[in-house]
Amino acid sequence: MAAPDTGSGGADGALSTVVVSGGGTGIGRATALALAARGRHATLVGRRRDKLEEVAAHAPGSFLVVDADVSTPDGARRVAGAVAAAGLGCAGVVASAGGKAPPAADGSLEAVRDHWRAGFDLNVMTAVLLVEALRPALEREGGRVVLLSSVAALRGSRTGSYGASKAALHSWAFDLAAQLGRSGGTANVVAPGFVPGTEFWAGVSQEVVQARVAQTLVGRVGDADEIASLVCWLLGPDAGWVTAQVISPNGGMVLGR
Ligand SMILES: NC(=O)c1ccc[n+]([C@@H]2O[C@H](COP(=O)([O-])OP(=O)(O)OC[C@H]3O[C@@H](n4cnc5c(N)ncnc54)[C@H](OP(=O)(O)O)[C@@H]3O)[C@@H](O)[C@H]2O)c1
Repeated sequence: MAAPDTGSGGADGALSTVVVSGGGTGIGRATALALAARGRHATLVGRRRDKLEEVAAHAPGSFLVVDADVSTPDGARRVAGAVAAAGLGCAGVVASAGGKAPPAADGSLEAVRDHWRAGFDLNVMTAVLLVEALRPALEREGGRVVLLSSVAALRGSRTGSYGASKAALHSWAFDLAAQLGRSGGTANVVAPGFVPGTEFWAGVSQEVVQARVAQTLVGRVGDADEIASLVCWLLGPDAGWVTAQVISPNGGMVLGR
């Protein structure tokens, strides 16, 4: 029988948290609220403290708020330090911080390089540095990692760097799964299709929405709460044998991968 989906259960019986980057908006916000609704504790991470505090106000006892830029070593250390200082174990990391880097300023190679580096920092380093900062705490209790990628990693993003930077997470997740598996932990990738209503898609036109809907088999867009439910399942008691997988909830927009 599966164990209850609670937030306690650290090696020493201390309360454990799930660290959610990008927890102030969009899919990260929905995931944090879904965790709290399931009785779990979450640590909300992002650069804008007001966004995190708005989420935390929904259930103050369920959240720790840490404003940090986790594309930097100092930011990632700040998160790990705050979790430890609060006396929390780490049951999981959801790396939802990410998005599209600003386009190259011009056609120069320097501008192209800066665009790609910005995308890599935003989508890869935010996940890598956060997980590495928390790795000792994760390994103490067989923690779970979920990395937010995108269908763009499976079929291209037409922007060059976005899909490519997300694809880097897939290969890394396989290595991470092997490493965390030694302590009973897991690592998986969730690669959503089109989920409007988040800051990622702020200002999207109806033409784009309809074109994306037409690419699905179920005739509709995705919802952040649906992605959050899948992430919560991967973090929960029934998913301990699911690891090193890329799961793409996309309404049938991309087939069989
Ligand atoms: N929505 C979709 O259709 C879709 C589809 C596929 C994949 N995804 C992926 O899903 C994830 C969540 O996207 P979303 O749609 O929920 O977009 P979103 O609302 O823009 O969320 C991105 C979050 O990342 C945080 N963030 C960005 N850089 C950060 C940094 N350096 N340090 C800490 N936090 C940082 C942002 O907060 P601050 O600005 O306050 O730091 C923001 O809360 C992203 O990785 C995105 O690429 C989204």
